[in-house]
Amino acid sequence: MGETKRVGVGLIGFGVVGEGVARLVRDNAATLTARIGVPIEVVRVAVRDLSRPRGVELDPALFTDDPFRVVDDPKVDIVVEVMGGEHPALELLLAALNKGKPVVTANKALLAIHGEQLYAAAEKNGARLRYEAAIGGVIPIVRTLTGAFAANRIDTVYGIVNGTCNYILTRMAEEGVGYDDALAEAQRLGYAEADPSVDVEGIDAAHKMAILAALAFDTPIDFSDVSVEGIGRISPVDIDMAAAFGYGIKLLGVARRHDDAAVEVRVHPAMVPLDMPIASVNGALNAIEVEGAEMGTNMLVGPGAGQGPTASAVLGDVADLARGLVDGAAVSPRPMNVPVASRVKLPPLPASKAEGRFYLRFTTSDRPGIMAALTKPLGDHGVSIASMIQTEHESDGEETAAVVMLTHRAGGEALAAALAEIDGVGILRSPTVVIRLVGDA
Ligand code: HSE
Repeated sequence: MGETKRVGVGLIGFGVVGEGVARLVRDNAATLTARIGVPIEVVRVAVRDLSRPRGVELDPALFTDDPFRVVDDPKVDIVVEVMGGEHPALELLLAALNKGKPVVTANKALLAIHGEQLYAAAEKNGARLRYEAAIGGVIPIVRTLTGAFAANRIDTVYGIVNGTCNYILTRMAEEGVGYDDALAEAQRLGYAEADPSVDVEGIDAAHKMAILAALAFDTPIDFSDVSVEGIGRISPVDIDMAAAFGYGIKLLGVARRHDDAAVEVRVHPAMVPLDMPIASVNGALNAIEVEGAEMGTNMLVGPGAGQGPTASAVLGDVADLARGLVDGAAVSPRPMNVPVASRVKLPPLPASKAEGRFYLRFTTSDRPGIMAALTKPLGDHGVSIASMIQTEHESDGEETAAVVMLTHRAGGEALAAALAEIDGVGILRSPTVVIRLVGDA
């Protein structure tokens, strides 16, 4: 870059994260300048609506409602995409990478669905593509997988990767706050996506797990192969029951490579023994556990959502790239651990086939023979019950029983067959709640 006087950042998107980046550039200017060698400056900002009031004051002349002007502006040395969504983010980033411009993105949906195209474009053009902020907020998982852990074969990555869901489940468990109120709080605190159903339905966590699995296992992942279940079916009863059995409920992402034969990526609520460290990862914190044969298990914990942590992760990538631009420091041109074309796609293993232990909550009429109607199909399909609680109450003038069971280890398909049989008997008053137990997740 010759005699660099400053590094110009072009922001695409100026919502919670974009404003956070501008604020951090302003507030930490001296630190950033000392660490990079020259100042970072926001030189262009693309927004959807030019008339909307801003939370951070910037020269109005910097704003445009045409995001391609950010990519094309020669003053923009690094393109920072924090607009979210698939389109036009994909076209914008491809345009930047095809020009050889470094890109930083926090867009997990984009990478989970179109990552292959972007990684290939980055590699082909020798353009840097950084995405630390897309996974686990400020947790440095991308750097760790491509740096500190790069010598290890990784076969398992799992954890809590959605701050909104973790916040909601924590508020429900600890304060007895209702689901809707807890979600509204998460939105107010800037944790949730623009459409919060993406969080609570597990889709945001699935995006992150797809990116993580591709990176950790050196294999492309089709997002459509990821099994997803959100937290909508978890009720206070399940939270109380889980506690009675010594468990907490978390929305968990699990990615596992089975030798080189298959890869499994799933997101679902899971019961975590209260004495496992991940059970005390609460609020909007995220935790990512990585298992490698030589290095053992490592858990990285940190704020997984919110303006400050996400902006900090974005600017960490910006600072790294800026150093490279300023003094030619070694910055790997690869977006992944291995060249993208060298990877082999592994067949997906659907979550329904994965073995495990399960929590089952049946809501049934309370009359003779019910217990046998529940346990016989389970036994017939080889699903063994480890413990059980029955409670009774009245609903719509009828005696109703809640029967809660923890199973021993069982096959996912065998359990599904048993549950379908139970459903067919006509004794259930509402759909059965099934939650996997961790430890055997
Ligand atoms: N909505 C996301 C979450 C933001 O709650 O985790 C961080 O990616």
